[in-house]
Formats: sequence, C-alpha cells, structure tokens
Amino acid sequence: MKIQIITLFPEMFPGVLNASMLWKAQDQGAVEFSYINLRDYGLGPRKQVDDTPYGGGDGMLLKPEPLVAAIEQAKQNDPSAIVILPTPRGKVYKQSDAKALAASAQTQGLIFVCPRYEGYDERVTAYIDRQYCIGNYVLTGGELANMIMIDSIVRLLPGVLGGETSAEIESFQEDDQNIEFPQYTRPEEFRGVKVPNVLLSGHHAEIEKWRRTQSHRP
Ligand code: ADE
Repeated sequence: MKIQIITLFPEMFPGVLNASMLWKAQDQGAVEFSYINLRDYGLGPRKQVDDTPYGGGDGMLLKPEPLVAAIEQAKQNDPSAIVILPTPRGKVYKQSDAKALAASAQTQGLIFVCPRYEGYDERVTAYIDRQYCIGNYVLTGGELANMIMIDSIVRLLPGVLGGETSAEIESFQEDDQNIEFPQYTRPEEFRGVKVPNVLLSGHHAEIEKWRRTQSHRP
C-alpha cells in the first residue's frame, strides 16, 4: 500500500510513522509512506500557500492553486489513489471506514491532504474523494487527524498484527459499539485488586461470554 501525504509540515510524521507497528508495517513492505511538501507548490518568490478569506473573517485559508497542483502531482505518481481530506465538515470517521480503506488498499493507494491555518478554499473539494471528521473538536491542522486515520488503516493490513487475532475479533463488531473489552496481565493481584476469576478459569466459552458482557464503555 502506497500512502502519500501532502503537508506543510512533513517533519511532524516520522516520530509517529517510524515507531512500533507502523514501523514494522513499513519494514515488512506492507506500506510505504512518501511526502509532498505543499510549500514546493507555493506561488511567487515567497512560495505563498495561503490568503485571507473573501467575505472577511479570522485567519488565513489555503489557496486552491498550490493544493490542487500538489494533489495532481500525487495522482500522477499513483493515478488510482483515493484522495482523503480531514475536515470538521466531513463524515464522522468510523472503524468501518478504516476497514473499507484497508480493504481497498490491496489495489489502491491513498493520498492524505493536510489543511492548515483556518482551512482551505472550498474549490479544492472537487479534487477530493473522501472528507472525514475524526471527532467533534477542532485541531490546528490535518496532520494529527491523518496520522490517526493512517494508524487505524495500517494496523488492519494483512500481516501487520502478525499472528494476533485482534483485527479479526474487531471484524465482528459494529460501529458505535465499544470494540474493546478490559484486559489483564500479571500480577494476579495489584494493590489489592484481583484479576477477574473467570479469566483465570481456563474456561474459554465462559471467558468469551464475560468479554462480550464487558464490551461497553465505562
Ligand atoms: N481538522 C481540524 N479539526 C478536525 C477534525 N476534528 N477532524 C478532521 N479534521 C480536522
């Protein structure tokens, strides 16, 4: 799976993408990341990428020309790739979206666009395939939102979890249901709190039943 990231701040990514599972996924060849620096497509000698909003208002918006030129370069690199824009105006991103993107990743790459400042000129959305909101709060840019989506997709790629069944277990879960049950490891007792007996019982059917009853939010 090829993932291209269009950003003004490529230096934000390696700490997250080059650690732990995401590093392992790259090492195995399951995913390959590359960056397009939006500044390279800026206009004029100052490489301008932003401007003030028509109609007034706070802050600056990303201009359409540099952003669309960067998207077109990414599409030229990978013509069938899906272009994703994180935005508070998008559809709320769910586990089912992560699964669908991981499934299509077998044949299609992904291009993640990172807006900055107060947003982007709406005309760029003609060049976008999916718009996602990762929660009802506002971030300073799209980088963190994209890292979250990338993490949720890459961990579902075949082989990335290496022998674990977590991704399979989740495949039976629906959106909006809690997808995790509480888990415990040694010691059996920590500061007076014991591991639930059922988990020590070795009785797999009972353990499964207990885990199902516990899959709700606290
Ligand atoms: N950009 C800023 N806030 C965002 C959010 N909540 N989701 C997606 N993109 C964003």
